[in-house]
Amino acid sequence: MLEILPAYEQGLMDIDGFSHLYVLWVFDRAAGSSLIATPPLDNRPHGVFATRSPQRPNPIGLTVVALMRREGTKLFVRGIDMLDGTPILDIKPYLSSVPDAELRRGWLTAIDGGAPPVR
Ligand SMILES: C[S@@+](CC[C@H](N)C(=O)[O-])C[C@H]1O[C@@H](n2cnc3c(N)ncnc32)[C@H](O)[C@@H]1O
Repeated sequence: MLEILPAYEQGLMDIDGFSHLYVLWVFDRAAGSSLIATPPLDNRPHGVFATRSPQRPNPIGLTVVALMRREGTKLFVRGIDMLDGTPILDIKPYLSSVPDAELRRGWLTAIDGGAPPVR
């Protein structure tokens, strides 16, 4: 559940019409940063900007969630990957305009061999 400060409730008007949302947030418990990351899915190092590592120069997280329902300032969502209490920077409607056929998945292709895109 994403809990929005009451001061921002008006900004949630009409959000209910969107099935998915982008959530921008802070890796507030990340331990430092590194320009090279070795993701748990792979044993090869990659540049941090080619990964979703929490240890990054600007510790900003981005998650696409499914909006199940809204109750006032509470957004009930699925697909969250942030720790409890993580500070949220912003929320925007998810609108993908990139056709699947045009997406390239970089080093992940060698891991999952073409699983459905994660945006
Ligand atoms: C691989 S990152 C991806 C996060 C986001 N989807 C992204 O792409 O920016 C997800 C992991 O970040 C870690 N994490 C979640 N919330 C965090 C926080 N507030 N501070 C530090 N690490 C966090 C958890 O271990 C979680 O499994």
